[in-house]
Amino acid sequence: MAKMLSERLSEELERITAACPLVPVIAIDNLDEALPLARALVDGGITILEITLRTVHGVEAIRQLREALPDVWVGAGTVTTVEQYRAVEAAGAQFVITPGSTRELLEYGVDAQAPLLPGVSTLSEMMEGYRLGYRQFKFFPAEVAGGIAALKAFSGPFSDVCFCPTGGIRQDTAADYLQLPNVAAVGGTWLTPKDAIATGDWSRITDIARASLSLVKG
Ligand code: 3PG
Repeated sequence: MAKMLSERLSEELERITAACPLVPVIAIDNLDEALPLARALVDGGITILEITLRTVHGVEAIRQLREALPDVWVGAGTVTTVEQYRAVEAAGAQFVITPGSTRELLEYGVDAQAPLLPGVSTLSEMMEGYRLGYRQFKFFPAEVAGGIAALKAFSGPFSDVCFCPTGGIRQDTAADYLQLPNVAAVGGTWLTPKDAIATGDWSRITDIARASLSLVKG
């Protein structure tokens, strides 16, 4: 019989996704930018950071941010293999997010060190995770995979499942997603515009974070 997701990991993931309604999806092009960018987001009220492995600096950025920002949840995104999962755990990642789900990743995640938020875009993928005890998923790419209408439909057969949609969500649509009872948090790159990072315009990033949070809280 397949091993089921441990209660410890399931509860830990619930704690993390409840910590902040907005999850910035971050790609670090220059390692030097990691800390000022993270600080700018935290100054704007963000308490969770998803550092993606889309650039070669992802793992090292996680290590540095964990050390520098002990009061913030720092996790890894765009993890696609078990080897990467292990590497980010070793760097101190407190959660792991995958764009999609493979059986190998789902099985590794049931008793890993850091909890897994598996990515899904269909009910069949979700059922694979559900079978192993997962009750929270990243819904990606949210907008093209059906958006709010799809999430409402998912709540019929899977009323005990919660989602963190990402993909195409922006400042002015985040609140609509968060109004759904089966949405715990939403993520995206609108919180970290590339041009602001390139010019070191950290105050603009703080402003975007603050304005986005006030929209979803209001
Ligand atoms: C992700 O991995 O969550 C997405 O790339 C974020 O999508 P966005 O760039 O449309 O916000």
